[in-house]
Amino acid sequence: MTTQIVDIDFGPRSYPIMIGENLTTQNGLLNQYVQGKAMVVTNETIAPLYLQQVLDSLGNTPKASVVLPDGEEHKNVETVDRIYDALLSNGFDRGCTVIALGGGVIGDMAGFSAACYQRGVNFIQIPTTLLAQVDSSVGGKTGVNHPMGKNMIGAFHQPVAVLADMSVLSTLPDREFKAGLAEVIKYGFIIDAEFFAWLEENMTSLLDRNTASIAHAVKRSCEIKAAVVAADEYERGQRALLNFGHTFGHAIEAGMGYGVWLHGEAISAGMVMGLDMSVRCGMITESDKERGCALLAAADLPVLPPSEVDKAMFERYMLRDKKVIDGQIRLILLESIGQAVVSADFDAEKLHNTLDHFTAHIAGHEQT
Ligand code: NAD
Ligand code: GLY
Repeated sequence: MTTQIVDIDFGPRSYPIMIGENLTTQNGLLNQYVQGKAMVVTNETIAPLYLQQVLDSLGNTPKASVVLPDGEEHKNVETVDRIYDALLSNGFDRGCTVIALGGGVIGDMAGFSAACYQRGVNFIQIPTTLLAQVDSSVGGKTGVNHPMGKNMIGAFHQPVAVLADMSVLSTLPDREFKAGLAEVIKYGFIIDAEFFAWLEENMTSLLDRNTASIAHAVKRSCEIKAAVVAADEYERGQRALLNFGHTFGHAIEAGMGYGVWLHGEAISAGMVMGLDMSVRCGMITESDKERGCALLAAADLPVLPPSEVDKAMFERYMLRDKKVIDGQIRLILLESIGQAVVSADFDAEKLHNTLDHFTAHIAGHEQT
C-alpha cells in the first residue's frame, strides 16, 4: 500500500500523520523530523520487537534509548523520571528529540517528558497499538496518572510527526487490537454516521486484520481527530466531544486499579453508559442505543461495566474528571449516531438512574 498522509493544521506547528507499511524500517524517513540527538523511549515488550530497527533507521544520528516497564500501572511520575535520568546521563541538551515507540502509555509518558525536559524539546510519535495510531499519538495530550485520578498530571505538547506503521500491528495481541477499536467506534458515534455504518459493514474484516480495512479505519479516525483538535487544541469546547464515554470509563479504569481493564475496554462500557444517559435525556432513540451496543459487541468489547465498580466509586471518580467545572460534571451525550454534544445542564436524577441501572447488580438485583 502507498503511504497516506493526514495533515494536522496548526499553522507553523502543523505536522503529518503518515499511515503506511514498513515505515519504521525506512532509512531516512524518521531522520527528516529529528533534531540533535535522538532518545527512543519504549518498553520491555516492544524493545525486543522493534527498537533495533528504529535505531537502525536513524543511521548516523547520535542516539540512545530507554526501556521502561510495561503497563498502565507504571504510567506515573516515577517512571517519567527514568526518562529524565536517561536524557541527562547521556548529555542530551534542549536541541534534542524524544521519540515515543509504543502504545498510548509510552506515547503519553514520552510526550510528557518532552514537554518538560529543559522546558520543551522536539517530539516524534511512533504509535505501535491501534489505539495509539487512531487516538493517543495525535493531538498533543501527554501525561501520567495519579492514584486519585486518570491522566491528572500532564501537558499539551504536539509532536512534529506521527509514523503509524501498519506493519507493527502484526504482533499486537487481539485483546489490545479490540481495545483500539473502541476509540475507532467512538469517532463514528460522535461525528460520522457514515463511518459508523462502514464499521458495521466491515467489523469482520477488521477483526480478521485486513490491512486495507485497518488502514482505512486509521486514516478516517485520524482525519476526524485532526479536524477536531486543530479547531480546539486546548479543549475549550468541541475537543471535549472526543471524550465520549471517558467520564464513566476513566472511573472504571481507576476504580478497578490501573491496567486491570484496558483503556479501550473501559471506554466501551463507558460509551454504553453514555448511550443510556442520552436515551434518558430524550436524545438518541432506544433503537440507536441498541445499534451502538451491537457494534461494540460485534467488536467483542464490554457493554457492561465491571461489577466491582459501585455507584459511590463512579461518583467519586467522575467528580474528579478534568471536564468538571465548579463541581458540575459535564458529559458527552449523543443527539443521534454521528452527532454529539457537551452537556452540563442534564437532570442530575437521570445520571443517578444511569448509575443505578449499571450498578444495580452489585446490590443483588438483576440488571435491566
Ligand atoms: P498500552 O500503551 O499499554 O499498550 C498496550 C499493550 O500492548 C502494552 O502491553 C504494550 O507493551 C503492548 N504493545 C504495544 N504495541 C505492541 C505491538 N506492536 N506488538 C505487541 N505488543 C505491543 O495501551 P494503549 O491502549 O496503546 O494506550 C492506552 C493509554 O493511552 C492509556 O493510558 C490512555 O489514557 C492513553 N490515551 C491517551 C490519549 C491522548 O490523547 N493522549 C488518547 C487515548 C488514550
Ligand atoms: N483522547 C481525547 C483527546 O485527545 O482529546
